[in-house]
Amino acid sequence: MVFYFSGTGNSYQAAMAVRSENEELVEISACVNGGSYSFEIAGSESVTFVMPVYYGGLPSVVSEFIKNLSLSPAPAYCCAVFTCGVTPLGAGSMLSSLLAGRGLRLDAVFTVKMPINYVLLFRIPEEGKRERILSDAENTLAAIKNSIRNRRTAGIPSSLPARAASRLMYPIYSKGRKTAKFHTDDQCIGCGVCVGRCPAKAMVMEDGRPKWISERCIHCMACIRCGAVQYGSMTKGKKRYTNPLLKSCH
Ligand SMILES: Cc1cc2nc3c(=O)[nH]c(=O)nc-3n(C[C@H](O)[C@H](O)[C@H](O)COP(=O)(O)O)c2cc1C
Repeated sequence: MVFYFSGTGNSYQAAMAVRSENEELVEISACVNGGSYSFEIAGSESVTFVMPVYYGGLPSVVSEFIKNLSLSPAPAYCCAVFTCGVTPLGAGSMLSSLLAGRGLRLDAVFTVKMPINYVLLFRIPEEGKRERILSDAENTLAAIKNSIRNRRTAGIPSSLPARAASRLMYPIYSKGRKTAKFHTDDQCIGCGVCVGRCPAKAMVMEDGRPKWISERCIHCMACIRCGAVQYGSMTKGKKRYTNPLLKSCH
């Protein structure tokens, strides 16, 4: 069984790439939205969690999911695949602790670098660079799939400085995630596509324009894939990122 969360498609691509044929793919935010946290694990089935790194940690919706998760029986092999723009820092340790709290052991953590999507703080790589990163990622993901098939175990890759950096950075995300600066500019035609893309159901249409619900927002960058969505003045004129696999879906 593969559980995944993705805002702009990188982790969706990773989940599709590492799953074996006919392996069930479960979308984490849909589970949280529907209050679905209990899963039966068949015989020797493995469990893989796929997600992006946020501020050296986990997307809020993934933490919420794991804190409530019940897998029965506990899987014989459990691993995680993190997609990130630069480095996962202590995200693996964070996931490992949360899983331990549910009586689950994390046997291996894999990381794949993919284009950075965080347009609020960074510039999206230019097309040529994006293509090179995605092509390298395909090779990495093929190797990860092989490791998962062989149930490779590995220590959680997290040095003390990496964990310390996560401890410093992550509260900026977990406590400081705000939506007041999200708005649309005059390019917005009120189509509601951004609202439909929000995996957290953190957006509604009001008077023909999207409105963000702060308590639910993950800051996953799905809404800002549309160039008419802005965050204060930080995103004006900046390129937005969508993984090519997602572009072909919606
Ligand atoms: C809120 C937020 C925080 C992020 N923090 C990090 C980070 O700490 N380290 C990193 O390497 N990438 C970081 N990124 C980049 C994403 O992890 C990366 O682009 C990921 O592949 C996006 O996956 P997705 O397309 O499945 O949403 C961050 C992205 C967002 C939206």
